[in-house]
Amino acid sequence: RLIPVILCGGAGSRLWPVSREAHPKPFIRLADGQSLLQKAFLRGARLPGVEEILTITNRELFFKMADEFREVNDTGVTTSFILEPFGRNTAAAVAAAGLRLAQTYGEEVALLVLAADHLISDQDAFECAVDQALGLAQSGRLVTFGIQPDAPETGYGYIEADGNTVLRFVEKPSLDKAQEYVDSGRFLWNSGMFCFTVGGLLAQMGLHCPEILAATQVCLDKSRVAEGQGFKQVELDSDSFKQVPENSIDYALMEKSQQVSVVPCVMGWSDIGSWNAISNLAEADANGNRVLGDTILQDVKGCYIQSDGRVVGVVGVEDLVIIDTPDALLVANKDATQDVKKIYAQLKAKG
Ligand code: GDD
Ligand code: MG
Repeated sequence: RLIPVILCGGAGSRLWPVSREAHPKPFIRLADGQSLLQKAFLRGARLPGVEEILTITNRELFFKMADEFREVNDTGVTTSFILEPFGRNTAAAVAAAGLRLAQTYGEEVALLVLAADHLISDQDAFECAVDQALGLAQSGRLVTFGIQPDAPETGYGYIEADGNTVLRFVEKPSLDKAQEYVDSGRFLWNSGMFCFTVGGLLAQMGLHCPEILAATQVCLDKSRVAEGQGFKQVELDSDSFKQVPENSIDYALMEKSQQVSVVPCVMGWSDIGSWNAISNLAEADANGNRVLGDTILQDVKGCYIQSDGRVVGVVGVEDLVIIDTPDALLVANKDATQDVKKIYAQLKAKG
C-alpha cells in the first residue's frame, strides 16, 4: 500500500502579494484553472493503487482545502487530514504522518511525501520514478528524487549521487558551494519529495532526531480524531505540539541519515518559488512579454505583468515583474524576485 502525503504550510512569501497567509501559494491557480494544490492531489491520486491521500496542513486552511480537493476528486480517493494549530516545520509534519499511519496501517505501508506547491509536467515519468522509489523504500531506504540542476540555486538541497547511492546530502548550501556542486556535475537537486516505509522512517528518525519523534508521539496521543465533512481528521493538540522541536526534514534527517537513496528523474519538475518561475510557465509574445489580465503595453520588453481587475498600463520599461491585486501592487526587477520575501517580512513586522 502507498499513501501520498501532501505537505502544505508556509505562506510562500516570495509570491506576495498574491500569496499571503490566508491565501498561500498552493492555492494559486494557473492558466488552466487548477491550483498547485489540486495538481499535487491529482499527481498522487492518479498513481496506480492509491486509495487514500493524507494532507498535513494548518487547521485554518481545512475548509478551503477540502473544497479544492472535492472539486477535482473524481477517482473517489479517501482524503484524510492532520491539522496543525501552527507550523512546526516539515520534520514534525512528516513525523506526525508516519506515526499516524503506523497506528492505522502498521509499519509496512509506504509514504510518498509530496509538496503542495510544485509542478511536474510529465506524469508518466513521475510514476516510473515512484515505482523505482518504492522498490528502494521497501528495503528500508529513505528515498529522495533528484533533479538535474541548471543553476546554483541556494534554496534547494543538494545530493551527491552515484547511481541510486547518496554520498552526501547538503541542505541549502552557500552560493559558492552551490556553484561548486553544479560545476562538479556530481550533484542533483533534492526535489523535496520523499518515499519511505513507515518502519524505515520511524527507525531513522529514532536514530537522528529522536526528540522530534518522541514529542510528536506525545502530541498525537493527546490529539482529537474527528470525522465529518466526509473526511477523517486528526487535530493536533496545540500545547503538546508546541513542545516539538522545529526543524525541516532535510536538516533533521536527510543530511544525517546513512540510509538515503536517490532516484534521478527527468519529469518536468519545477518548484514555483518566485514570480520569475511563474512567468516562465507562460508563453512569451514577440517582445518577450508575458501578460495575464487587462494590460496595455507600449515599448515594453521582457516583462511579466499580471492584473486582477484593474487596467494596468506600462510604458518604456524592460525586464520587470508587475503584479497588481485589489489591495497591493508589486513592481520588481526580474532578477530580484527571490527578494520579494523581504517585502513580505517587512509587512509582517509592521503588523
Ligand atoms: N504541514 C506543514 N507544516 N507543511 C509545511 C510546513 C509546516 O510547518 N513547512 C513547510 N511545509 C510544506 C510547504 O508548504 C512545502 O509544500 C513543503 O512543506 C516544503 O517546505 P518549504 O518551506 O517549501 O521547503 P524549501 O522549499 O525551503 O525546501 C525543500 O524543498 C526544496 C525543493 O523545493 C527542501 O526539501 C529542499 O531540500 C528542496 O530542494
Ligand atoms: Mg519550497
